[in-house]
Parts: sequence; structure tokens; C-alpha cells
Amino acid sequence: MSEPKDHFLQSSSGFSLREFLDDDLTTFFEQQRDPEANYMAAFTKKNPDDAEAFQLHWQKVLADKNVLIRTILYDDAIAGYILSHDWFGEPEITYWLGKAFWGKGLATNALQAFLKVQTVRPLYARVVHDNHASKRVLEKCGFQVNGEDKGFANARNKEMREYILILND
Ligand SMILES: CC(C)(COP(=O)(O)OP(=O)(O)OC[C@H]1O[C@@H](n2cnc3c(N)ncnc32)[C@H](O)[C@@H]1OP(=O)(O)O)[C@@H](O)C(=O)NCCC(=O)NCCS
Repeated sequence: MSEPKDHFLQSSSGFSLREFLDDDLTTFFEQQRDPEANYMAAFTKKNPDDAEAFQLHWQKVLADKNVLIRTILYDDAIAGYILSHDWFGEPEITYWLGKAFWGKGLATNALQAFLKVQTVRPLYARVVHDNHASKRVLEKCGFQVNGEDKGFANARNKEMREYILILND
């Protein structure tokens, strides 16, 4: 029997991407509370420890028909998520991994796999100017810097510059 078309198992690296399940939110919440991850992402929720705000945010995310989301697994553990949305007008991706899973190439694997599921182009991404790891992940997957923007970053408590990256094909 063949695998579902968007199930990308790479057993040699322990990485896989699967459909989102509601129970994943418990893990996502813990992963999104991490101070270092918040600092890195910069444009985050005001209070990452607010469970009610987290639930409200995700209710909206999951009710949005234009959101495409997948859960990232590492050896069957929930490593994080990757999703696309159009909240700023253009199709855009974002992702978040629990700190225990950083530095294993997972974000790169996840983005490469997700780009076969989310095939709309151009596709955009935003990254605060000093999030070198995330920018590198995007560039390894073919995204190129296309512009800059700035906005208030809750995790830094100040306005920050961000790169806007584009994937054309
Ligand atoms: C950013 C994040 C997704 C990276 O995940 P990851 O699985 O560790 O990334 P990967 O292992 O696939 O690749 C990271 C790349 O960045 C590089 N990198 C890591 N830290 C770096 C740094 N400080 N400067 C430059 N490059 C860096 C790695 O060497 C690797 O590149 P390489 O393969 O050429 O060596 C993860 O740290 C995370 O979830 N952070 C918190 C949330 C966040 O920032 N989300 C993105 C918002 S735009």
C-alpha cells in the first residue's frame, strides 16, 4: 500500500511530518513557552505562559480554512509544527520547534517536506533580522530575501527589523 502523498517518512534521520492532531497542542504550548525560543522568534505572543490566550489563538488558527498545518515528529516525539497562512495578505509560512529538537536539521527537513504539500507560489516568510538559524533554513530551501519590514517584537519589547523572504518556484 502506498503512503498518503504528504506523509514524508525519513526513518534514517528519525524525521517525519504528519497531519496535525488536537492533542499536539499540549506539546506546542510547552514548546512555545520557552524563553530562548521566544527571544529567537521575537514576534511572539505578549505572554507565552497564558494558556487561555494560547487556546484562543489556536482555535482561530485551526478554524481558518486557509491554514495548512503539519506536525513535525522526531522518532515519534512531537518536535514542533509548520504551517502556512495568509494573515498578512500573502501566503506565508512559519514554524516552531521545541528546543530539545534544534540542531538536527529538522526544520530544514520539515520545510522541504512541507513545500511539497503547500505548493502555492510565491510563498513568503518573515524572520527577525538576527534569527540566523531560521534565515538559513529558509535559504537552504530556496527562499530569497525580497524586502524588509519592522514591527514591535513582544519578546524583545522593542521594534525590530525583519526580513521578508520569497520562494518563487
Ligand atoms: C529556527 C529553528 C526553526 C531552527 O530549527 P533547527 O531544526 O535547529 O534548524 P536546522 O537544524 O534545520 O538548520 C539550522 C541551520 O541554521 C544554522 N544555524 C544555527 N544557528 C545559527 C546561527 N546562530 N547563525 C547562523 N546559522 C545558524 C545551522 O548550522 C543550520 O545550517 P547548516 O545546515 O547549513 O549547518 C528553531 O531553532 C526554532 O524553532 N526556534 C524558535 C522558533 C523560531 O525562531 N521560529 C522561526 C520563526 S521565523
